[in-house]
Amino acid sequence: ALAALRPRDLSGRRVLVTAGGTREPIDPVRYIGNRSSGRQGVAIAGAAALRGATVELIGANLEVSPPPGVRLTEVSSAAELAAAAATSAASADIIIMAAAVADYRPEITTQSKIKKETQGDRLRIDLVKNPDILAGLASTRHRGQVIVGFAAETEPDDSALLALGRSKIVRKGADYLVLNRVGWTEGFAVPDNRVLVIDLAGDIVMEASGSKLSVADRILDLLA
Ligand code: CTP
Ligand code: CA
Repeated sequence: ALAALRPRDLSGRRVLVTAGGTREPIDPVRYIGNRSSGRQGVAIAGAAALRGATVELIGANLEVSPPPGVRLTEVSSAAELAAAAATSAASADIIIMAAAVADYRPEITTQSKIKKETQGDRLRIDLVKNPDILAGLASTRHRGQVIVGFAAETEPDDSALLALGRSKIVRKGADYLVLNRVGWTEGFAVPDNRVLVIDLAGDIVMEASGSKLSVADRILDLLA
C-alpha cells in the first residue's frame, strides 16, 4: 500500500547506494569495525527502487535484510567497497555513499592467527589511512552525476555539527552531505534518525527526522 503512494519519480534513473560498515582484517579471525548497521542506506536503496530507480546496493556487513528489487553486491573491507564502487560508479546517475568506511586499516594482515604466546602482554597494530572513496568518485564524476555523502558526527550542538559538515563537503566535493549525530545511544542500530542536509555552498537544504525509511524518502525527494 505504501509503495502505491510513492511517486515513480526515479523511473529510468540508475542509483548506486553503499551501506553498512566496513571491516578491516587483522588476521583470518579478527577485524577492526564500526557500529554502522546499514539501516539508513538500505532504507534509501529500498525507497529508490519503489520510486522506479534501477538500484545497485553495495552492502558492507549489513545487519539488516537487503530490500527487494535491488541488485546487491556484498563486500567487507574498504578496499573491496572501493573496487565495487569503481566498477558501478560510471553508469550511475546518483551515488549515495551511506556506508561507514574505515578511515584506517591494519598495515599488515597476518595469514595466520595472532597468538598471545608470541605477543606477550601488549599487542601493537599499525594502521594506515584508506583512500577516500567518496572524494575519488567526486573527482572523476561525469556531467550530471549527483553525489551524496553522509557524515556521522558526535558534536552535541547543531552549529558545531554544521561547521564540520561545511568543511567536510568542500573536502569531498560532493553535491550534498547528509549530517547526523551519532553517539553511544544515538544513530546506530536504531530505527529512527534525524538529519540535516547541506549543499556544497553550505546551505541547509533539508531537515528530517523520523523513521529511517521516512528520512530516506525525504532525501530522495531532494534528488528526484
Ligand atoms: N568516506 C569514503 N571513504 C573513506 C572515508 C569516508 O568514501 N575512506 C565517505 C563516507 O562513506 C561518507 C563520507 O565519506 O559518505 C564522510 O565520511 P566521514 O567518516 O564522516 O568523513 P571523513 O572524511 O572520514 O572524516 P572523519 O571521519 O575524520 O570525520
Ligand atoms: Ca571517517
